[in-house]
Amino acid sequence: MSKPLSDSVIWITGASSGIGEALAVELSKTGARLILSARRESELERVRSRCHFGDINTRSLRLNLEDTKSHKQLAEDAIRLFGHIDILINNGGLSQRATAMEAELDVIRKIMDVNFFGTVSLTKSLLPHFTKRESGYVVVISSVMGKIGTRYRSTYAASKHALHGWFDCLRQEMYDFNVDVTLVCPGFVRTNITVNALTGDGETYNVMDSAQENAMTPDEFAKKLLPLMQKRKPEVYIGGREVATVYLKRFFPRLLDRVLRNAKVT
Ligand SMILES: NC(=O)c1ccc[n+]([C@@H]2O[C@H](COP(=O)([O-])OP(=O)(O)OC[C@H]3O[C@@H](n4cnc5c(N)ncnc54)[C@H](OP(=O)(O)O)[C@@H]3O)[C@@H](O)[C@H]2O)c1
Repeated sequence: MSKPLSDSVIWITGASSGIGEALAVELSKTGARLILSARRESELERVRSRCHFGDINTRSLRLNLEDTKSHKQLAEDAIRLFGHIDILINNGGLSQRATAMEAELDVIRKIMDVNFFGTVSLTKSLLPHFTKRESGYVVVISSVMGKIGTRYRSTYAASKHALHGWFDCLRQEMYDFNVDVTLVCPGFVRTNITVNALTGDGETYNVMDSAQENAMTPDEFAKKLLPLMQKRKPEVYIGGREVATVYLKRFFPRLLDRVLRNAKVT
């Protein structure tokens, strides 16, 4: 039986905006103790001030996912904040708006560095703590793009697909240590993810896609995720109609390919 969220110490990456911010606020209502991480410290402080009992139960810790050399020390610092960590929510990430042909290799590497290597590195830094305690839970905010592919997101989809491979293996390796892994696949959520996405030459896209603008709010997303976290399922999908593409891919892959070829995907 897993600990209730209210009794847990939870480290959230990408907590300075969007989904991470909403998860922080929602989790703070349970009484959970939180460690909020991202690069922008002022935004982390803003989110902290929105959290219930933010002064007592919440700490912020600057993290750059790309700087993998810093992660071991950061994990030690994070553990020290409340004495231990029960749950790591790997949420920080960035998207892409460029065709595969346009995307420069350095930009492809950067997206993989943040979304895949950064996430893997931070998780690896915390695994000794989880295995020693024989207790832990890793939540990974992947995407529907971790299960399918659409135009303009080749590296983003690749990075999220790679997370599924790595964390599916980890889940099996961690079974005997009582460490669970959940891959969460959101559909569209109304955040700045497309505004912050990288174009082919690494510039910021700076456009709010209409699919994002009309999507569920991060607060709605967080409210749906919390009860699912308690169940510790291996994989969950949260979104609108776009979630159906995951099942189409599994059972009718050629049909999905034809549909997506002409679909509006921005
Ligand atoms: N919104 C959607 O429709 C959607 C759909 C599927 C999946 N997702 C996933 O949800 C997660 C959160 O995205 P969001 O939608 O909430 O977008 P967002 O508002 O742009 O949030 C991205 C978060 O990642 C952090 N981040 C980016 N680069 C980082 C780095 N190098 N080091 C540390 N932190 C970094 C950002 O903080 P700083 O800039 O302060 O570092 C920010 O807190 C992402 O993994 C995304 O792929 C989103």
